[in-house]
Parts: sequence; structure tokens; C-alpha cells
Amino acid sequence: MSNSPVITIDGPSGSGKGTIAQLLAKDLGWHYLDSGAIYRVLAQAAIKHNVGFADEQKLAEIAHKLDLVFSLEDEGLVVILEGEDISTIIRSEQAGNAASKVASLPLVRAALLDRQRAFRQSPGLITDGRDMGTVVFPDANYKVFLTASAQIRAERRYKQLKEKGIESNLPDLVAEISERDIRDSQRKVAPLRPADDALQLDSSSMGIDAVFKYIRTLCADI
Ligand code: C5P
Repeated sequence: MSNSPVITIDGPSGSGKGTIAQLLAKDLGWHYLDSGAIYRVLAQAAIKHNVGFADEQKLAEIAHKLDLVFSLEDEGLVVILEGEDISTIIRSEQAGNAASKVASLPLVRAALLDRQRAFRQSPGLITDGRDMGTVVFPDANYKVFLTASAQIRAERRYKQLKEKGIESNLPDLVAEISERDIRDSQRKVAPLRPADDALQLDSSSMGIDAVFKYIRTLCADI
């Protein structure tokens, strides 16, 4: 496995980890892994191939063979599944919830480990998710765990979805985000939790610029 430097940014949905991770990747000129997008794509692939979210064996097989291409563009992450651009479809809350269901299955997570670790290439990797610092890259150079209250995260998500032209409503978002938090933090395998050596940052009252500057300063020696 490559020993290029890695910075992991974990946290719950809507904590701002994706935005921060992309800013850092661009600033440093490093590779970027949005691990949540892999689970989102897997859920879409399951729907496409008529595989139920409880069929762990079949889902793991799909995960092994997933024909997936990511590219980080100015407008954000472009996601191609089997030749089809699904960048927008995978960003709905329903797609997030579907991702969280397939992500709770141990065989699925095991099937995706090598694929995630393969993103660790020179000159370095910024990655965001739930278990980047605890399971996938336990030897990361820096680990950050970003949080914010469920209400604030739902408000941010609402704004983000609106900008992407996706309709949603705030009370539903608060409920869906809370439901997903519970599932992600209570599952048996790789639950959402900060690594023991992660810097924990509550971004509830911080803007993206302030969070970015804080983390960039933390990693100033890189
Ligand atoms: O980060 P994002 O909201 O795109 O993640 C979608 C879902 O994928 C999460 O709710 C979580 O269940 C799952 N996930 C995970 N491990 C990761 C990243 C995401 O289980 N490293």
C-alpha cells in the first residue's frame, strides 16, 4: 500500500466535511476520495440491478465489481456509474438514506476497503466519510472529526440541495438526518465515531472559510 500522506475528515451528514475536503484537496493539489459517494453509488447500482438492500451477499458482489468513475471538477464531484452520470441523483436525501442502509452491512464494507485505499496516491489524499480515520486510514497524518447540530446541518443541506435544483423541505431533512445519524452511529461495523487521535471541531457557529483556515493551519507543515 502507498504511504503517501492522508488527511481524513469524518463526521455526520451535513457537517461540511465534503466541502472542506474538496477545498483542501484543491488547495494542496491532492487526490480526493468522497467515500460516502461510493455507498451512494452502490445503493443506486442495487436499485438498477433489482437487488434488495437486505441481500448482503449480492450487494457485496456488486460492490466488488462496481464500474465507477469519479472526477473532481470546478462544479464539484462528477460521478459516473456504468457510463451514466449520476452526480445529481445520488445527492438526494433518499439516496443518502439508501446509502446508509447498504453501508451497515459488514460484507459490503469489506468489499469496498481496497477500492478506497487505492485512492492513496502521491502527492497525497484528502478523504471524507464516517470511518476514514478509524478503519480505512488508521495511520492518517491528520484526522479531523467535524460536527454541527442536527438543525444547522439540515439547514445547510437544504441550501445545498436548493443550489443543485433538488426540492426538499426542512422538517423532513431534520428527521432524515437524525434517522441517518442514529443508524450510522449505532451500527455494529465501522460506526460513526471520532478516532481517538482525531481533532474534534464543532462547526455549528463557524462559516466554511473559518473551518477551512482552522484545518489548513493545523496541517501547515504539509
Ligand atoms: O457522506 P454521505 O452523506 O455521502 O454518506 C452517505 C452514507 O454512506 C452515510 O449516511 C453512511 O451511512 C455511509 N457512509 C459510511 N462510511 C463512510 C462514508 C459514508 O458508512 N466512510
